[in-house]
Amino acid sequence: MKDGLAHQRVWQLPSYVRRVPTGGEKGKFLAVDLGGSNCRICLVNLHGDSTFTTIQSKHSVPPGVMVNPSSRPLFDFIGHRIADFLATQPDLCSSRGLRNSNQQPYQLGFTFSFTCEQTSLASGRLIHWDKGWDIPEAIGRDPCQMLQDAIDCLRLPVVVTVLANDGVGTLLTRSYTSGPTASTLAAIIFGTGTNAAYVEKLSNVRRVSGETKPDGIMVMNTEWGCFDDQMEVLPRTSFDDELDRASADSGTQMMEKRVSGLYLGELLRLIILDLLRGNAFTMTCSNASRAFQRDGIDSSFLSELAKAGRDHAERAIQLIEDTLSAENVSEADAQAIQLIATAIARRAARLAGASLASIIIQSGRLEMSPDGAPEPEYSMHRIQRFTSDMALLWRRLLRLAGIGSPIGKPPVPIQPLKSKWDNIIDIGADGSLIEFYPSFETEMRGAMRDVPEVGPAGEQRVRISMAKDGSGVGAALMAQAASEVET
Ligand code: BGC
Repeated sequence: MKDGLAHQRVWQLPSYVRRVPTGGEKGKFLAVDLGGSNCRICLVNLHGDSTFTTIQSKHSVPPGVMVNPSSRPLFDFIGHRIADFLATQPDLCSSRGLRNSNQQPYQLGFTFSFTCEQTSLASGRLIHWDKGWDIPEAIGRDPCQMLQDAIDCLRLPVVVTVLANDGVGTLLTRSYTSGPTASTLAAIIFGTGTNAAYVEKLSNVRRVSGETKPDGIMVMNTEWGCFDDQMEVLPRTSFDDELDRASADSGTQMMEKRVSGLYLGELLRLIILDLLRGNAFTMTCSNASRAFQRDGIDSSFLSELAKAGRDHAERAIQLIEDTLSAENVSEADAQAIQLIATAIARRAARLAGASLASIIIQSGRLEMSPDGAPEPEYSMHRIQRFTSDMALLWRRLLRLAGIGSPIGKPPVPIQPLKSKWDNIIDIGADGSLIEFYPSFETEMRGAMRDVPEVGPAGEQRVRISMAKDGSGVGAALMAQAASEVET
């Protein structure tokens, strides 16, 4: 993280967002939210009291548009969806921030969920595609400009005023809905792809020159999906390698390939396939089974298996029969598949938890009071934590030496920090994995506790709340901020 703050890397990308919403923002704005699989056109009404309403149309992006030598089909597709949407909204004209009686064009915020180096709030350069997309012509070009060109071709009265990553958008939405006192630190996306954005001290963002405001902030797009692409610390199995080799962006987004929705189902499929070929199951699958089709298993299958639980073998068996068109699924088959699915999801959640811990440590929030002063109880707490860690190490060493632990009870748990130091570290989250996988957050928290600098006391201060569909609203919030700068 520190390296990316200091040098031009494809992670830790500055968003040029220098303040976060308070909840008091008002107005109606258009937003386009281009995610990994869908495109949403939204009209967002910010009520100015931390609430909002949206009217939106949602469209699946056709596969032939996601993978295409030319960028025209994608941006023409979005342009036409905007035109259709405007045609269904006849009374936009009177709205603040939108086209007014002087026939000003509508202002639109563009959420673009791909790795893009921003050059300002309203412009950027696409670094690479991920999540299976491949449109070579767009690399190095500005997504806002490409969208504006498509809009202009259709003669729509719309001007693209801001560009936002979905992680950044979700952070802004969470800040807006939770109000100024929550002081949201970060937002995490667990959708088709994964990413996190967080609030960094401007003085730490050394890769952006000429930014000097002493108490300033910058929202950073971490692009954590590509953390450790060099594979120095990430876990690695033959199935991970197989998945990576078959992907459109082999050798990149290595953490994403272990964490996000696009890949977890495929990892499970590759393992099931291996076991089927090794005759490890009682069950059989016909040639038409999804087990034999690339990307045939959706990540929601992992959530369904987890919900079925270990105690309801029949439910799990039925689920496997239906999803894989399998016959003669035994209880042992179902248990094995559930075990593997749990391991895949647990690994994903723990990697995300460890990465969130790194953001929390980098932010300094564990050591600072709300007014920015160092925490007086902090050194006491460190001693307590050190003692607890040493006791744990001692027990592990004894166990390794085969002596067993003479200390019957586990070490005394660390007391959570009290009073005003007990302040919440607020995190927004979006994506089906964290929303639907039953123990995803619990597993993330387990990993955060295992990071010594965070520990149980730090983990207890973390509040993770859903900021559902926050990315589109975030783009509208940015468009609102841009409109205030203009007026
Ligand atoms: C992209 C990020 C995006 C994330 C979640 C990743 O593949 O690189 O920019 O935020 O997916 O959509």
